Amino acid sequence: MIKTKDLVKVFRTDEVETTALNKVNIEVQDGEFVAIMGPSGCGKSTLLNILGLLDNPTGGSYLFGETEVAGLKEKQRTNLRKGNIGFVFQSFNLIDELTVFENIELPLLYLKMSGAERKKMVETVMERMKIIHRRNHFPQQLSGGQQQRVAIARAVVTNPKLILADEPTGNLDSANGAEVMALLTELNEDGTTIIMVTHSPSDAEKAHRIIQLFDGHIVTENITKKL
Ligand SMILES: Nc1ncnc2c1ncn2[C@@H]1O[C@H](COP(=O)(O)OP(=O)(O)O)[C@@H](O)[C@H]1O
Ligand SMILES: [Mg+2]
Repeated sequence: MIKTKDLVKVFRTDEVETTALNKVNIEVQDGEFVAIMGPSGCGKSTLLNILGLLDNPTGGSYLFGETEVAGLKEKQRTNLRKGNIGFVFQSFNLIDELTVFENIELPLLYLKMSGAERKKMVETVMERMKIIHRRNHFPQQLSGGQQQRVAIARAVVTNPKLILADEPTGNLDSANGAEVMALLTELNEDGTTIIMVTHSPSDAEKAHRIIQLFDGHIVTENITKKL
């Protein structure tokens, strides 16, 4: 589903130049669940943002499906992302002024569909994420675990083929973290490809494969489970 060749990302500010990714080669198959681990600052979020078409690499190749996307303009990246990729973040990134229903509905507003269709899709995913009883609440009225369930619902409401999760359990206690991992595992079992950054060895073990990053490059890859 995705394949990078010698992916490089250099951040330049007036004073300093940081090589966040230094020739990363990574290939992820349809239906795989891959965990990315490594110390703080080693480039995990940078890699996830590029794989998720939120940012461009400075060098190298990135094939998303059959398409070379390394040099795409922002508008083209956004178009390709819509409906194809869902993001889950450590800090949930919900919009405080919108209700649970409205937060989850958001990605659908960019796709052509009727209000009735949107309502049906949002309700289906709210039920699946066990959050339907909070549909009219605002994010601040929810526990962390509930907020992350809303964020996952928002990521999957368009039925994307790929989910990218950046430390999805990082702000959760172990019970809520386990619930989020169970939801991600279930989504993967239903066919969604998942790439997840995590600091938690036990979360990483839920994946098929663990990739260790260090200083912007891959140091080891371990198969944990058969696909
Ligand atoms: N927007 C940016 N501008 C400048 N430097 C950045 C930017 N984003 C990340 N970096 C730098 O790139 C490196 C990798 O960062 P990051 O991908 O966030 O690491 P991780 O997620 O593994 O903690 C760090 O040295 C960080 O300071
Ligand atoms: Mg990070």
